[in-house]
Amino acid sequence: MTNRVVLAYSGGLDTSVAIGWIAEATGADVFCVAVDVGQGGEDLDVIRQRAMDCGAKDAYVADARDEFANEYCMPALKANALYMDRYPVVSAISRPVITKHLAIAARKFGADTVAHGCTGKGNDQVRFEVSITSLAPDLKCIAPVRDLALTRDKAIDYAERNNLPIVTTKSNPFSIDQNVWGRAVETGFLEDIWNAPTKDVYNYTDDPAFPPVADEVVITFREGLPVAIDGQSVTPLQAIQEMNRRAGAQGIGRIDIVEDRLVGIKSREVYEAPGAMALIAAHQELENVTIEREQARFKKMVDQRWTELVYDGQWFSPLKKSLDTFVDDTQRYVSGDIRMVLHGGRATVTGRRSETSLYDFNLATYDEGDTFDQSQAKGFIEIFGLTSKQAAARDVRFGNGVQL
Ligand code: ARG
Repeated sequence: MTNRVVLAYSGGLDTSVAIGWIAEATGADVFCVAVDVGQGGEDLDVIRQRAMDCGAKDAYVADARDEFANEYCMPALKANALYMDRYPVVSAISRPVITKHLAIAARKFGADTVAHGCTGKGNDQVRFEVSITSLAPDLKCIAPVRDLALTRDKAIDYAERNNLPIVTTKSNPFSIDQNVWGRAVETGFLEDIWNAPTKDVYNYTDDPAFPPVADEVVITFREGLPVAIDGQSVTPLQAIQEMNRRAGAQGIGRIDIVEDRLVGIKSREVYEAPGAMALIAAHQELENVTIEREQARFKKMVDQRWTELVYDGQWFSPLKKSLDTFVDDTQRYVSGDIRMVLHGGRATVTGRRSETSLYDFNLATYDEGDTFDQSQAKGFIEIFGLTSKQAAARDVRFGNGVQL
């Protein structure tokens, strides 16, 4: 029934083989879209041509770099998104933007089905398919690696038999996913969680054990977004790229974690996200200076829930949208400068400056100029502690007091 399928094409072995594989299994014409989310590496025109050489009826490259930075990385920054307090949702935020371009391509080519190259064991299949459901519920979705049981050996075999212009080494040590927000590396010898990552795992960061001289940077934010670095105006994409370069040189943002996948598996992941981690550290500190205490405490919970929703493939969900509104509202006064020293794997904040700061020197100072009336503290503590005092007295009455 399907006569046109649009495949999210990466240029790698699996999606290259998938072109012919889908065509044979479904009888459909296969069209490809490769989405540029700042993954670097191979020239995307080469990738486009490879799709054609592997049998695509048509293929194009969608430049989504600014869109990805503005509409996906920046919301993640505003929410300080760190899944399990560590992982800056690198792959999780790229799937919705790739899916959006997949849906656009489906309309363009008049396809009724889209396809992706995920396996059946990961989070990414969920992110693609749940996103498609929200964006274009009429589209069907197929996953050849999962649904047509395209194993790695079969893929290599197919590529060799059909002379596909793709490198087919049997020993590809890792599964890698990368974009401007970071890089994810898994599988291979990393599956033994006692094995330390070797040097070849890393690409965005240099070894933090042998850093160059310390690098001081001033990042200017306006309403939660980086707008200048060392006084030079930057777009969000440029801010991420510049911090990737500078924090990467210092080995900042290496993360090695056993992570809870949505599908119930614990998996070992190694990430590098130098720019993201440095920007989040700066943004968090500026929030400490500018966001009111109760709003800040509540925002921590919202940030975590936002991150879990995004990790779980709910980017386009109603709750995620509502939380976006809350997060955006909190950013009204998150403006100012953060000075950081980048060195030996760490991004350390050393200074903050903001016109919209809530830090009041005269309230905080222990020196001359104190405007805080300390005599009021006594009564405050009396009433604040009353509820605990009452409960403790009852414990004593019933013999449950704290033994000293
Ligand atoms: N576990 C991470 C996540 O779910 C990274 C997935 C990366 N994908 C890959 N093909 N290596 O977001």
